[in-house]
Amino acid sequence: MQNNKRQVLGITSIAAGVMFMLSASQAFAVTTLKLSHNQNRDHAVHKAMTEFANEVKEKTNGELRIRIYSDSQLGNQRESIELMQNGALDIAKSNAAELEAFSPAYSIFNLPYLFRDKAHYQQVINSDIGKEILDSSQNVGFIGLTYYDAGARSFYAKKPIRTPEDLNGLKIRVQPSPTAIAMVKGLKGNPTPLAYGELYTALQQGVVDAAENNITSFTLSRHGEVTKFFSLDEHTMIPDVLLISNKSLNKLTTAQQEIVKKAALNSSKYMMQLWEKSEQEQRTKAEKQGVEFIVVDKTLFQNAVNPMYDDIARTQPELFEMVNRVRKVE
Ligand code: GCU
Repeated sequence: MQNNKRQVLGITSIAAGVMFMLSASQAFAVTTLKLSHNQNRDHAVHKAMTEFANEVKEKTNGELRIRIYSDSQLGNQRESIELMQNGALDIAKSNAAELEAFSPAYSIFNLPYLFRDKAHYQQVINSDIGKEILDSSQNVGFIGLTYYDAGARSFYAKKPIRTPEDLNGLKIRVQPSPTAIAMVKGLKGNPTPLAYGELYTALQQGVVDAAENNITSFTLSRHGEVTKFFSLDEHTMIPDVLLISNKSLNKLTTAQQEIVKKAALNSSKYMMQLWEKSEQEQRTKAEKQGVEFIVVDKTLFQNAVNPMYDDIARTQPELFEMVNRVRKVE
């Protein structure tokens, strides 16, 4: 009896050992990719990327997972891209303005009033041009997987901006994009590049007088607490972009790479559904906090920035060729 028990115990412990080894080998098969971004968890883009992570996990039977770090926990947008280039981060969500410094092709999205309307912007994103831009950063260590809709960007300030003249002499926070800087200079403001995470304090303390963004980001970053006038001039439509380092993509199997790319596209479609609703909700929230949304004559702003295109034609022929390609997209 005693012997039997020992035998059973022995067998049980061998079985336990085998089970342990099996689960250990399964654990080894799991790859986790880190994703960094600078929005909070209530932002629509965080929800879209959560869908992306869920789809990747499900379609790879849990072998590939994406862990999302929100709120710039792993660094601001520029730092996250640099971490990706150094191999310390796999995926980052950035936007086309920040990316201009890494790959000039992204400048196209930062040009004011280039897109006729939202439909034109979406056609461009889905065209060969959109794809070319996503691939354009391959030589600097990463590629774009997909775009996420981020609406239109408008100016907001401590005083009402009704015409371009109202921007005269204001210190205006911009993203570190040469095109955004040129645009604000063209409008006779003083462009002040700052990271997104530093903007609330900069507005509060008067380091800058104004900034520009979409309504969702404006409200969720609480800028409406310190800036009460949002002018609907809608000068740009700058998409967010989901990036993956070449190194991280190449270490995945071909099947996993396909799953990641498909899931990214699906999450981008989901984001389009989320976006409009999110802007509506965040606008209502801002209005309740006393923010005034100002309807402006957009043609005044458009005319004021038009000379930028003559400058580009003269000094940046490659970009100007791209501008013409974009204009031709129906
Ligand atoms: C938007 C965009 C962010 C970006 C921010 C900014 O909110 O989605 O990616 O960082 O603008 O103005 O910095």
